[in-house]
Amino acid sequence: MVHAVVLVLVLLLKHVRTDIRYDNCAYWTFSKGFGLPEFTERLALNDVTVYYHDSSLKSKMPRPDWINTTAGKDMWRIIHDWTENNRYGGTLQFHTATQQFNLTGLLTDQNIYQASGCCSVYPNGTYTAFLTYAFNGKDFASFDINTKTFVPAVPQAVFYKNLRERDSLRVDMAVKYYKKTCLERLKILQQDPRVLLRKVPEVQILEQQKKKSGSVTVTCHVTGFYPREVQVFWLGSDLQSVDEGVTEILPNGDGTYQTRKSVIVPEEDVGKQNYSCVVLHISVPNNITTVWVGERACGGVWIAILGCILLSAAAVGYGVWWCCCKTRSKHLN
Ligand SMILES: *[C@@H]1O[C@H](CO)[C@@H](O)[C@H](O)[C@H]1NC(C)=O
Ligand SMILES: *[C@@H]1O[C@H](CO)[C@@H](O)[C@H](O)[C@H]1NC(C)=O
Ligand SMILES: *[C@@H]1O[C@H](CO)[C@@H](O)[C@H](O)[C@H]1NC(C)=O
Ligand SMILES: *[C@@H]1O[C@H](CO)[C@@H](O)[C@H](O)[C@H]1NC(C)=O
Ligand SMILES: *[C@@H]1O[C@H](CO)[C@@H](O)[C@H](O)[C@H]1NC(C)=O
Repeated sequence: MVHAVVLVLVLLLKHVRTDIRYDNCAYWTFSKGFGLPEFTERLALNDVTVYYHDSSLKSKMPRPDWINTTAGKDMWRIIHDWTENNRYGGTLQFHTATQQFNLTGLLTDQNIYQASGCCSVYPNGTYTAFLTYAFNGKDFASFDINTKTFVPAVPQAVFYKNLRERDSLRVDMAVKYYKKTCLERLKILQQDPRVLLRKVPEVQILEQQKKKSGSVTVTCHVTGFYPREVQVFWLGSDLQSVDEGVTEILPNGDGTYQTRKSVIVPEEDVGKQNYSCVVLHISVPNNITTVWVGERACGGVWIAILGCILLSAAAVGYGVWWCCCKTRSKHLN
């Protein structure tokens, strides 16, 4: 989000494992008219849900067995206790926002208020934290932990800013949470067996020939990995990036992730150069390198297609299949 606040707290980081990035996040929703529970609270470490509660549930989630230290048990008890507090505070904020947008009193109205707060530890030791709010899907405000101020994203949030900043006790509590407590919880929650899991990426090379130019778009499809952090890049000459270097990492829904990286290999290089897709992931000691060698069609696409048809026709007679547009890819580890 735009108003993300970054802070560096090197002193607190002494005993944190930093082989991958860890995110300790809390998500709250307050809604009306969507048929959803009025209130939901979800705590997640690296996208793994560790605690969930909503207003339709009668009891709170029991403490998982792996949390068995005194500090862990205390944390769980405090999480339970704070659920009501968060619900109460957030519901007031939701009503304030609804009023500021003049959306009160309409029975047909559908409104949703979302808050999320995260702290993250990067492999290089950097610690960041941010707290943001959204109303009906748009940025509403954020909290700057260093200056202890609320930053409105829209004019309707100014009233909210003033209201919140007047309550200095709660402001100090939020600051303390994001500077200290969030990191302490992160250290406990990163012991969750699901967070410690490592799943090796599967790599597949997909290719698509451009009809006119003869250039080939080669895609390195990487899937089934956990944790989420991954680096995928292509090595080779004259490569042209397709996705502007942006790598989107998407969840597969089974706790693993997938991503892809595409490049364009110019016609004159197809079959002459080797290209490698290199995948770096915590689950493998070095890297997964997959080599792609596109074989050049025999003298132009149309001739190649005609050639393929003729060759195939001839080959069928001998019970053998041929295709001259074949490509090879090979795994190295
Ligand atoms: C705490 O949980 C860990 C992991 O499940 C286990 O190895 C350990 O024996 C447990 N300790 C106690 C005191 O139950
Ligand atoms: C809400 O209503 C008040 C009073 O009528 C008006 O001053 C304000 O601009 C309105 N706000 C919005 C977002 O429409
Ligand atoms: C640590 O890594 C993050 C993300 O890669 C980067 O944004 C940040 O600038 C780095 N900080 C330091 C002190 O190197
Ligand atoms: C591509 O790799 C193969 C073996 O993997 C090698 O025999 C060939 O010489 C390489 N071609 C180029 C152009 O580097
Ligand atoms: C990948 O790992 C191999 C060793 O297995 C190493 O020789 C190579 O340099 C690595 N490549 C990259 C791009 O890190």
